[in-house]
Amino acid sequence: MPALSASAPGKTILFGEHAVVYGYPAIAVPLADISLTVIVQALPNQNGIHILNQGLHEDFSINSFDSENRYSLAIEIIQKHLGIRHMPAMQLTITSKIPLASGLGSSAAFAVALTKAVTSFLGFKVTLEMLNKIAFEIEQNQHGTPSGIDNTVVSYQKPVFFRKNLPPEFIKVGSSLTLVLANSGIRSLTKESVSQVRELYDHDPEKIGHIFDQIGSITEKARKLFESGDHKIIGELMIENHHLLKKLDVSLDKLDHLVGIAVKSGAYGAKLCGGGKGGNVVALVPPDQKDEVAKALVGAGAESCLLSTVETTEGIL
Ligand code: PMV
Repeated sequence: MPALSASAPGKTILFGEHAVVYGYPAIAVPLADISLTVIVQALPNQNGIHILNQGLHEDFSINSFDSENRYSLAIEIIQKHLGIRHMPAMQLTITSKIPLASGLGSSAAFAVALTKAVTSFLGFKVTLEMLNKIAFEIEQNQHGTPSGIDNTVVSYQKPVFFRKNLPPEFIKVGSSLTLVLANSGIRSLTKESVSQVRELYDHDPEKIGHIFDQIGSITEKARKLFESGDHKIIGELMIENHHLLKKLDVSLDKLDHLVGIAVKSGAYGAKLCGGGKGGNVVALVPPDQKDEVAKALVGAGAESCLLSTVETTEGIL
């Protein structure tokens, strides 16, 4: 059997993280230039599943179900959805350009690419809806209570206006978006920042609920602007969204500093993205300023910068 490979993009949330967990809308876009790939190869006359992930120094075999192992858990979920009991012996080779634990969706890309690769290796055709469902379950296993935005944008690979428990709406992007992603170098677990916001909310639902309301209305406003391509106002709204995330205490001085530097060096706007407390800052920039903004961000202490372009879309499936 020939080797088979599948890839999935990273993602960034441009509006609405955290509030989305409470039912408010959020907007996320795929990062086609920053992806994760899974290659599946048959292992004739062998047993088990061999994992090779050089980036994470992983080189081991799974011979029976292991609830502590993310690969084993994910494969179990895929098997359950396909209704198959026994997996043929195979090797899974994972390579990724998506930094870990930094808000760019590496775990969703892992779930999606793995599901695509393994299901087609086994000869199954899965719809995007099914792919998204399986990836969500894999994400739930890893993160507890994700809103579902990450697996949705990564499965469909389209800019999405997302509300928890509702079918995704795909937004029209009238003019392509040039993004600079600046990695603060501080890793942080989304699960922890989500539970920290939960504590704040439980302590003062009125105050925190008001912040979510404001984030929600910024997200609604931004949605229309993607269609008209008004990047200047989208940028201003991103800065407002960042300030509201700061009020939720998920920012850090370093993230605030990087947002300020991005804007000073020519970005339309910038904000932290994802769970926060570290991870990445996303800046929307004029295409001819991307290198200058990236250079300024690295000069100001970003560990590295990635560039990605979101192409125009029609906003339909
Ligand atoms: O940190 P990320 O990239 O996994 O994004 C998390 C987004 C949150 O809204 C904070 C949580 C969620 O599940 O939507």
